[in-house]
Amino acid sequence: MKKILVLNGPNLNLLGKREPGIYGNHSFDSYFEQLKEKFSSVDLHYYQSNVEGELINKLHEVGFEFDGIVLNAAAYTHTSVAIADAIKAIETPVIEVHISNVYARESFRHKSFLAPNAKGIITGFGLKSYDLGIQSFL
Ligand code: DQA
Repeated sequence: MKKILVLNGPNLNLLGKREPGIYGNHSFDSYFEQLKEKFSSVDLHYYQSNVEGELINKLHEVGFEFDGIVLNAAAYTHTSVAIADAIKAIETPVIEVHISNVYARESFRHKSFLAPNAKGIITGFGLKSYDLGIQSFL
């Protein structure tokens, strides 16, 4: 059974309440239940943190064991050399995902420190971006 981690960064704990015009009105917890049902043949895990170092610790923890990581590092995508280095340091491939199309938004969201170290990028498909990220590992 493949082991895949969905890893969410800052402010994504507020999905459903946060800027629903951009991020929709579904909570991630209920969406994750749907993902677990859909991908019942996958050992699917979920972790969210608003703290950069905790995201890095989680990447280190699973990054030599899991088969894939679907990462929405949220705003840290555009700022974090440390998360970029962590992705480079681990063996597990990482797919960078975003709910919104970051290229259709402010120019500061066009820069990703993570992208050069990611296996691929999925952006702009709403919560479906996570579904597509998981599928890419199967
Ligand atoms: C996001 C896009 C980022 O620019 C933003 O900071 C987020 C969410 C997305 O999923 O669309 O918090 O990663």
